[in-house]
Amino acid sequence: MTQIFSPAADTWLRLFLVTSLALTAGGAVMIVGVARSDYVTSVDFRPSQPVPFSHRHHAGELGIDCRYCHSSVENGPHAGLPPTKTCMTCHSQIWTNASMLAPVRESLAENKPIVWTRVARLPDYVFFRHDVHIAKGVGCETCHGRIDEMALTYRAKAFTMQFCLDCHRDPAPNLRPADVVTAMGWKPQGDARATGDSIIAHQNIRVGELTHCYVCHR
Ligand code: HEC
Ligand code: HEC
Ligand code: HEC
Ligand code: HEC
Ligand code: HEC
Repeated sequence: MTQIFSPAADTWLRLFLVTSLALTAGGAVMIVGVARSDYVTSVDFRPSQPVPFSHRHHAGELGIDCRYCHSSVENGPHAGLPPTKTCMTCHSQIWTNASMLAPVRESLAENKPIVWTRVARLPDYVFFRHDVHIAKGVGCETCHGRIDEMALTYRAKAFTMQFCLDCHRDPAPNLRPADVVTAMGWKPQGDARATGDSIIAHQNIRVGELTHCYVCHR
């Protein structure tokens, strides 16, 4: 048999294959990179919303507790966004004609939920649930920042793997008592680690097991 390709040609062929593979992978990385920079990890992502809902006004100034509107945060994986009737408990009495609230009235009349643009989201391959975190003393503020100061909701923290792992490796300094889990601007009195260590003991938190891949990727 005559050799069709010289050894040098073979090398070129390999190089070609390797380069095109690398380029394809590079393309995928770029697409993922773009998708992420806007949606998944970027801090300060601040979309416009159908209604200019203000947490500063409702959670900050009026002092409405997070759980009034995000009512499944303690009992399930998702915090949930409030149904229109929750807004209407107040807005059927106040600001009833404001044009800003027209989409809220329409949503009620037509029985169609308001479609909010999400700011805090993880890729599908990451497993997460709210209830466990709330029950074990991780405050909303630790992951979502000072929501009570946001006129329009934006993403305050990047949900990178590092962000999750930093706490999972050593949760103690980031834990708080159950009664202040939705409080904003809360600081531990005295030593944060001592407070956290007692919560860890009391809540049986499995320190040391929380960095295993299957905790978040299942
Ligand atoms: C517990 C009562 C209460 C609930 C529930 C409530 N609001 Fe309000 N909202 C208010 C009050 C009070 C004002 C302020 C009126 C003023 O400025 O004096 C207001 C003002 C607003 C404004 C005007 C802009 C601003 O922030 O000043 C918008 C828009 C609004 N609310 C949207 C909503 C939406 C959407 C919901 C449901 C997700 C909702 N509200 C739920 C009490 C409430
Ligand atoms: C009066 C109702 C109300 C209260 C009280 C409230 N929220 Fe919200 N929240 C909303 C609505 C409506 C949205 C969707 C619109 C938006 O993003 O601003 C939302 C969106 C969010 C989001 C963004 C979710 C996403 O992926 O887009 C976070 C995070 C959040 N709220 C956290 C909190 C925290 C923490 C508190 C308590 C400090 C709180 N909220 C109190 C009504 C409320
Ligand atoms: C340990 C971090 C962490 C804590 C603590 C936390 N969140 Fe979240 N939150 C997230 C992540 C991550 C997402 C995105 C989840 C997804 O895309 O599956 C999210 C999403 C949300 C959403 C979007 C809608 C939904 O149903 O998930 C709301 C609203 C919200 N959080 C409110 C809250 C409130 C209110 C608290 C406190 C009572 C809270 N979060 C505590 C990390 C956290
Ligand atoms: C500030 C601390 C903190 C941060 C940030 C945090 N976690 Fe956690 N996480 C905890 C604690 C505490 C537990 C409870 C562990 C236990 O019960 O032993 C937990 C438990 C979990 C569990 C186990 C739930 C179950 O089924 O028992 C998952 C999954 C999880 N976290 C995912 C995440 C992801 C994903 C992120 C990042 C978006 C994240 N966590 C960020 C502290 C944190
Ligand atoms: C506490 C939660 C948590 C644990 C534990 C965890 N991951 Fe992740 N992982 C995440 C989150 C959140 C992302 C998404 C990051 C993003 O979107 O930037 C991620 C992304 C990834 C990715 C996608 C590429 C990247 O880096 O963004 C890979 C691969 C991965 N994880 C592998 C692992 C392996 C292997 C382990 C065990 C050694 C592990 N993860 C443990 C939360 C976790």
